Amino acid sequence: MIAGLIRSSREKVSSALRGIALAMKPQVVFVLGGPGAGKGTQCARIVQNYSYTHLSAGDLLREERSRTGSEFGQLIDSYIKEGKIVPVEITINLLRKAMEETMKADENKFRFLIDGFPRNQDNLQGWTTVMDGKADVKFVLFFDCSNEVCIDRCLERGKSSGRTDDNRESLEKRIQTYLQSTRPIIEQYEQQGKVRCIDASRDVDEVFADVKKVLDKEG
Ligand code: ADP
Ligand code: C5P
Ligand code: MG
Repeated sequence: MIAGLIRSSREKVSSALRGIALAMKPQVVFVLGGPGAGKGTQCARIVQNYSYTHLSAGDLLREERSRTGSEFGQLIDSYIKEGKIVPVEITINLLRKAMEETMKADENKFRFLIDGFPRNQDNLQGWTTVMDGKADVKFVLFFDCSNEVCIDRCLERGKSSGRTDDNRESLEKRIQTYLQSTRPIIEQYEQQGKVRCIDASRDVDEVFADVKKVLDKEG
């Protein structure tokens, strides 16, 4: 009988915890920085060590570009080559769907690293329109790195990435987009005290040591 009681209260607790998890709003960390700053590399390290799901806006767009039957394939392809930011209606839907699918598959997965978003005012507006009140943006992890280092890393990555934009011509455009459109977004979050700036010019382990400090404190 005691065993039965313990089992039943254990089940009640676990069902209550499930309820809490179900009610959890997605907790989001935006990950920003120049092209090649190391966002994807550091996100992969975070996922190994913390309970976050990594969603890269760029990866989702590349996936959509190659999806058979996608009505946006050509548009995405030309925006990526030109280093321009795809209209947010497309990107926010991909992000929303990925978040929903992740949470549906596992209700405990409500912490997200959203990498490479929001990259301009249009992105930010789209996020606010679709996600305001539905997700909490905890802070922005900003990988700060000089343009020269960013370009060198992307050119090196281009030797094997197969990416259509890891070449000097596209990179010049991507850096311009970053400076003109993304930096002002980072500054906006900075004014709200929401930016956690990491010196991303150092080696991967040193950068990750600083990432850990941030996440251990408030992740
Ligand atoms: P992002 O997602 O910001 O564009 P990636 O994580 O894809 O950047 O990194 C770009 C390239 O630079 C990759 O080839 C990666 O292996 C390399 N890289 C990433 N972080 C570092 C680092 N701290 N030092 C040197 N190379 C790095
Ligand atoms: O982040 P990543 O380097 O993978 O992004 C590659 C390209 O994907 C960007 O240069 C841009 O053309 C597109 N992109 C976008 N909107 C985002 C993220 C990426 O249009 N929010
Ligand atoms: Mg990346």
